[in-house]
Amino acid sequence: MSAPPRLTEAVRQDIRRSVLCWLATVDAAGQPNVSPKEVFCAQGEEAILIADIASPGSVSNIRGNPQVCVSFIDVFRQKGWKVAGAATIIGRDEAGFEAIGRELIAMAGPSFPVRHVIRLTPQRISRILAPSYAIFPDRTEEERMAEIYRLYGVRPIGGED
Ligand SMILES: Cc1cc2nc3c(=O)[nH]c(=O)nc-3n(C[C@H](O)[C@H](O)[C@H](O)COP(=O)(O)O)c2cc1C
Repeated sequence: MSAPPRLTEAVRQDIRRSVLCWLATVDAAGQPNVSPKEVFCAQGEEAILIADIASPGSVSNIRGNPQVCVSFIDVFRQKGWKVAGAATIIGRDEAGFEAIGRELIAMAGPSFPVRHVIRLTPQRISRILAPSYAIFPDRTEEERMAEIYRLYGVRPIGGED
């Protein structure tokens, strides 16, 4: 069996640059479920951590079937990743919750208590690119971003990442 894929710096950079991730799970009857999560981060190169703040459906599905897929994109660069793998649920009363969940708890802040940490170990990592990358392969990142600012009607206020 080959070693599990790592979260490279390119993947971790897009995690930092993505406003949301979308977590897909499946219930016991095979019914898919997908919902957005804003509070998520990389745990080194090994795992993606997602905060359960208000996600009872995801938690219950993972307890029944740990196979999940999460996707996230940097909307301005129009690219991101799909990460599929097995998830575990770490509750507040379990050993390691505070240590593993430290970054998520800080991201969420005191008004949004983290009930569980969803820890995803990647088995497959694949690139997501907007179709424009194939259709306009010669565009620079600056040109792509300028086009998206125009399309979404927004302007950057400065700062990187
Ligand atoms: C912008 C946005 C960000 C959200 N971020 C989170 C989050 O970080 N963690 C969480 O548990 N729920 C988050 N939610 C709420 C869940 O997506 C929502 O409660 C959803 O219905 C949960 O579905 P589930 O129980 O099937 O997982 C967010 C919702 C929105 C709209």
